[in-house]
Amino acid sequence: MDRILVTGALGQLGTELVVALQGKYGSENVFATDIHTPLNNNFEGNFLTLDVLDKRSISELIRRHDITQIYHLAAILSANAEKSPELAWRINMDGLINILELAKEHHIQKVYWPSSIAVFGPDCPKDITPQNTIMNPRTIYGITKLAGEKLCAYYNAKFDMDIRSLRYPGLIGHGALPGGGTTDYAVEIYHAALKDAKYTSPIAADTALPMMYMPDAVRATLELMDAKKEYLTVNTSYNLAGISFTPSEIAKSIQKSMPDFIINYEPDFRETIASSWPNSIDDSAASNDWKWKVAYDLDGMTREMISHLKKKLPPVNVY
Ligand code: NAD
Ligand code: SER
Repeated sequence: MDRILVTGALGQLGTELVVALQGKYGSENVFATDIHTPLNNNFEGNFLTLDVLDKRSISELIRRHDITQIYHLAAILSANAEKSPELAWRINMDGLINILELAKEHHIQKVYWPSSIAVFGPDCPKDITPQNTIMNPRTIYGITKLAGEKLCAYYNAKFDMDIRSLRYPGLIGHGALPGGGTTDYAVEIYHAALKDAKYTSPIAADTALPMMYMPDAVRATLELMDAKKEYLTVNTSYNLAGISFTPSEIAKSIQKSMPDFIINYEPDFRETIASSWPNSIDDSAASNDWKWKVAYDLDGMTREMISHLKKKLPPVNVY
């Protein structure tokens, strides 16, 4: 029987991935953890407080609950990482090596660890960025993700482990507020549209970024983890394309149902990060190896985001 540990479970991705894992493996077999505690201690399923820098506590949790798979999500995202690079290095790298070492020691069957389009830098081809190309990330977050990819590949090869990974685009969901990334604007814009009918974008009007609606990201994660190991040809992290759009295009998509919505632009340091990342991604390796196919386009995502957020405004964070 599979018993799943999720780190960073109260974040934007964890909030929705945990529900999917609970549905797949049974709530009793999923152990959601985070350094924070859930708001009002209100969490459906098993929840434990856990710092990914506390190796001894992670080891004890794995042993006590007979964990067989780990989804290691805890990280500091790109915009916050630029404000605290040393902290980002510690959490993103020391946290990952703790998980990999413990996965080796406890003979964990499978580990999932997310990478990001942030592994690419300004020297990469900007359009349909290939799986394998020059990387040279400029952000500390991207550097930790690229180093993390190499570390996972090393553990896979050296210790015959099964660690799988996706380079997510910017993730957009209504389940939780985002946690300090450059692509957060594409979530905030929906909240602002419903609350104030206006939004000031920290990203320039015509800067395109690869993005993905959360149900696609969750499905991609589960499909990759279910794929037969012998079909996987990428030993680092799979490129994953979704929907590529600019702030001006997402605003137009919102205006289709909210014609009074206004967008302004005040690009800040996040524009520098965004313009160092690809416009769009080539995910043909994922399509070939495990039949990946995105489901949502921009207008489809906009319709769902507005419909879900309307039911639960004002937005609240999960901790
Ligand atoms: P998030 O910032 O929303 O959540 C991260 C969670 O990690 C938070 O709940 C935080 O409390 C927790 N955390 C921080 N430090 C911790 C520590 N020391 N120990 C335990 N928990 C700690 O991030 P997210 O959007 O949910 O991202 C999850 C993963 O997916 C990250 O690895 C991120 O790099 C990756 N990713 C996310 C995106 C995106 O657009 N959201 C894109 C690419 C990759
Ligand atoms: N969406 C993330 C960020 O902006 C990229 O991994 O940090």
